[in-house]
Amino acid sequence: DMALISRKGSALVREIHEKQKRDKSRQRFLELAGSKLGDILGVEKSVDEIDADIVVVGEDGEVDFKGKARFSQHLAVSAFTKSKTISQQRQNLPIFSVRDELLQVVRENQVVIIIGETGSGKTTQLTQYLYEYGYTVNGIIGCTQPRRVAAMSVAQRVSEEMETELGDKVGYAIRFEDATGPSTVIKYMTDGVLLRETLKDPVLEKYSIILMDEAHERSLDTDVLFGILKKVVARRRDFKLIVTSATLNGEKFSNFFGGVPIFHIPGRTFRVQICYSKTPCEDYVEAAVKQAMTIHIAGAPGDILIFLTGQDEIEATCYALSERMEQLISSTKQPVPKLLILPIYSQLPADLQAKIFQKAEDGARKCIVATNIAETSLTIDGIFYVIDTGYGKMKVYNPRMGMDALQVFPISRASADQRAGRAGRTGRTGPGTCYRLYTENAYENEMLQSPVPEIQRTNLGNVVLLLKSLKIQNLLDFDFMDPPPQDSILNSMYQLWLLGALNDVGDLTDLGRKMVKFPLDPPLAKLLLMGEQLECLSEVLTIVSMLSVPSVFFRPKDREAESDAAREKFFVPESDHLTLLNVYQQWKANEYRGDWCNDHFLQVKGLYKAREIRSQLLDILKTLKIPLTYCGPDWDVVRKTICSAYFHNAAMLKGIGEYVNCRNRMPCNLHPTSALYGSGYTPDYMVYHEAILTTKEYMQCVTAVEPHWLAELGPMLFSV
Ligand code: CDP
Ligand code: MG
Repeated sequence: DMALISRKGSALVREIHEKQKRDKSRQRFLELAGSKLGDILGVEKSVDEIDADIVVVGEDGEVDFKGKARFSQHLAVSAFTKSKTISQQRQNLPIFSVRDELLQVVRENQVVIIIGETGSGKTTQLTQYLYEYGYTVNGIIGCTQPRRVAAMSVAQRVSEEMETELGDKVGYAIRFEDATGPSTVIKYMTDGVLLRETLKDPVLEKYSIILMDEAHERSLDTDVLFGILKKVVARRRDFKLIVTSATLNGEKFSNFFGGVPIFHIPGRTFRVQICYSKTPCEDYVEAAVKQAMTIHIAGAPGDILIFLTGQDEIEATCYALSERMEQLISSTKQPVPKLLILPIYSQLPADLQAKIFQKAEDGARKCIVATNIAETSLTIDGIFYVIDTGYGKMKVYNPRMGMDALQVFPISRASADQRAGRAGRTGRTGPGTCYRLYTENAYENEMLQSPVPEIQRTNLGNVVLLLKSLKIQNLLDFDFMDPPPQDSILNSMYQLWLLGALNDVGDLTDLGRKMVKFPLDPPLAKLLLMGEQLECLSEVLTIVSMLSVPSVFFRPKDREAESDAAREKFFVPESDHLTLLNVYQQWKANEYRGDWCNDHFLQVKGLYKAREIRSQLLDILKTLKIPLTYCGPDWDVVRKTICSAYFHNAAMLKGIGEYVNCRNRMPCNLHPTSALYGSGYTPDYMVYHEAILTTKEYMQCVTAVEPHWLAELGPMLFSV
């Protein structure tokens, strides 16, 4: 009973404990079992009982209950039948029909390319087949994902299928979070995590087989891995590599590895009816909301999936949808069917992400509002309608700003087809429908055939640093599937030289070698190491950790003024970085309390995450034997340290309250959330953490600096 409870309700029930407080808690648990567990397992409360020791962890991470309790046998029986249906589900996947052939090609070849439609079972099944076949005798199975959310949710799913705790036989690792253990044999991870592992272990000794999943996404890290794994394949006869893709670009991958076999998983193609807009659409958020409401009111049953570009739009859409639903309910006497509005984007907390996979109650319709994360990385069953706005966010190098920025772009035809393919996965006979909020002409004539690989459009600072430390001298010779533009490599090298990570002949410096040890962007790593030199490491460590989590300021829709006032209380007039430091230190002074965060409109989870990241970075500092130093209450030296790592992002005052970028003289604006915005304090110079491009170019997270610091710390760019 303990295994099945933890398998199914693992968000609620994490582990079984020996210790307990008996009677008082039992009532509480039975209530929980009845309401929450019952919900999850889809059973009613029953009277036949079994004793068990458990810990129940609520969605907020708090322990709800700890002790002995009774489970109903009914629950156990039902969970057992549930596990049967899981194996039935597994056997129903298209990949199951070719299981033996697949294992045979893998046995006979060192590298295999596997092509299969989204939802055919590549990500969840392949690893299990390999495990069942015995590939974990001399090493473990690694499976890389370009997206953190996918790595987590798929590991969760596979651990359920294998009836093991997440982190036991099946685990995952993403940056700053390792949910694997000594018995882990199937490890899902982001491609970035595996890339960093090659630094410590260039031939990936620990793995007997690596599955590079979602290769069609061509993420930056995947592309670099291609080159590195090709070498591992050449050096280790006992190592196998599987590359999977959801689109038909197998030839390219196959050729890269010298013409290896391509295996196609026979697809179940779902017919999808495509409806184009007649005219280009002015406001796709509004159009998407309208379309979703029309479907909900008049359409046949089936869930809706909307594709938008990012968190802000998704939140706005969810809000608009719930408002329209309220209006609808209050304006009609008729019963309105329920609409379950579920956002999904990469920064959404994991427990909320998991919600998209839950079945809606009878009569309710799910409406999932997603970024392109739901294009191929996550398979959500039951979708009958897709609303495709035709846009997505991409990280691109912006030469005008001299750095990467997330920008909204029209998607490619390949992405549009993937999006459409998400409709109709209901097991129903009729075709699903995809509403494209753009014209047929735009699809045919304006969209690119396939997306530009990330390596050809982003800053390569991290990649250069990594390849340099793998002793790859001439980066222009590295075996890239699609080499990045030479300018982009040279530009990244220049940036690293500015930071002092590379010397004049392009080799790693001592500083550069230390920077690689941190899973951080080069300027953040430099910030830490300069904290050591200028003796304010503890303070800087906190700032780096706070910059590594999404904004901790919480701004609920109906309490904007109140939350803004709460935020302003933390402001340090000359710096957003110091404001973050201030928040963290006050939180610490209040015993890291959750209720304190709530009172001050701070995201509890974000702060916890920052604290965890801080302790992980501290561990790395310890292994480098770098002692923690404190500067105390005078924070000027902290500003100076920030200047030393961010002088390449400097802006200077030009006109009243107007700033221009020091390097290219382009106007750049203070972000309205900044402590310096509208404060009346206008320093002559400031540095910023990053620039973001929306309607204007904004500086995100700024700190006032002294001009002579710029000259002292960035002499390659500034002089007195
Ligand atoms: O990787 P691929 O797109 O080929 O498929 P997959 O991710 O292995 O998904 C196969 C099936 O597993 C899906 O159709 C879902 O029914 C199920 N699945 C799930 O229920 N929950 C998840 N978190 C992931 C997959
Ligand atoms: Mg997959």
